[in-house]
Amino acid sequence: MEKKPFIMGNWKMHLTLKEGVEFAQSLRDHLSEKNTVLCGICPSFVFLKDICSVVEGSDIFVAAQNIHSDESGPYTGEVSAVMVREVGCTHVLIGHSERRHIFGETDTFINAKIKTALSNNLKPILCVGEKLDEREDGRTKYVVKNQIKDGLQGIRADQMGDLSIAYEPVWAIGTGKTALPEQANEVHSFIRKILADEYGEHVANTTYIQYGGSAKPENTEELLAQPDIDGLLVGGASIKLESFLKIIETSLSVIG
Ligand code: 13P
Repeated sequence: MEKKPFIMGNWKMHLTLKEGVEFAQSLRDHLSEKNTVLCGICPSFVFLKDICSVVEGSDIFVAAQNIHSDESGPYTGEVSAVMVREVGCTHVLIGHSERRHIFGETDTFINAKIKTALSNNLKPILCVGEKLDEREDGRTKYVVKNQIKDGLQGIRADQMGDLSIAYEPVWAIGTGKTALPEQANEVHSFIRKILADEYGEHVANTTYIQYGGSAKPENTEELLAQPDIDGLLVGGASIKLESFLKIIETSLSVIG
């Protein structure tokens, strides 16, 4: 890994307002002297404004976990890019596997969300990854390639600087089964090749590709030691301050 590590904590539907605010305060205090890592958190929609206030003025990003593809409209229960931008988010997760597989999000919908995020000055993190049966059938690359191609349909090279990708094999999410570092790197380097073919070497080399799926303090070093793994999208280990800080500490040591 040659870039500053990009470590994001996806809190999913965890933590109360009090817990989230306390976590963000401690994270801000801890990181104030160490800004060599790109670090962000993805709280619940309802806490975004509070958490953005806590980290305001620090280097910590706040990302929404999702947005709708339209800027406004009659979509009960949905939240728009305009809204999350307004409360201070700079990033947004798009196409997380839980959105794809539990809530049925399609690549077409995901592509529309990416366009809306970019046009509203929100940096999208496009999440991709194969399910267990797809890996077992030898279809990992086919699935990931389609998710990337369809997700990025119509996105120009000059927009790619604002976008990152998270490779999250579904079978490794919340299961304790991490992809072997070499196994993950193989897919990361495949993603970089897709980007190179589509957008050229510069975009391929500068785009951040995070790994997600049972990332924890114990495997941070070996994952980040891989040449094409630029950071981590952490679920379970990001909702405990101690383990998230340990991941950040470890990622600092990887870059020396
Ligand atoms: P876990 O780290 O809990 O496996 O979750 C990964 C994830 O889905 C992050 O977005």
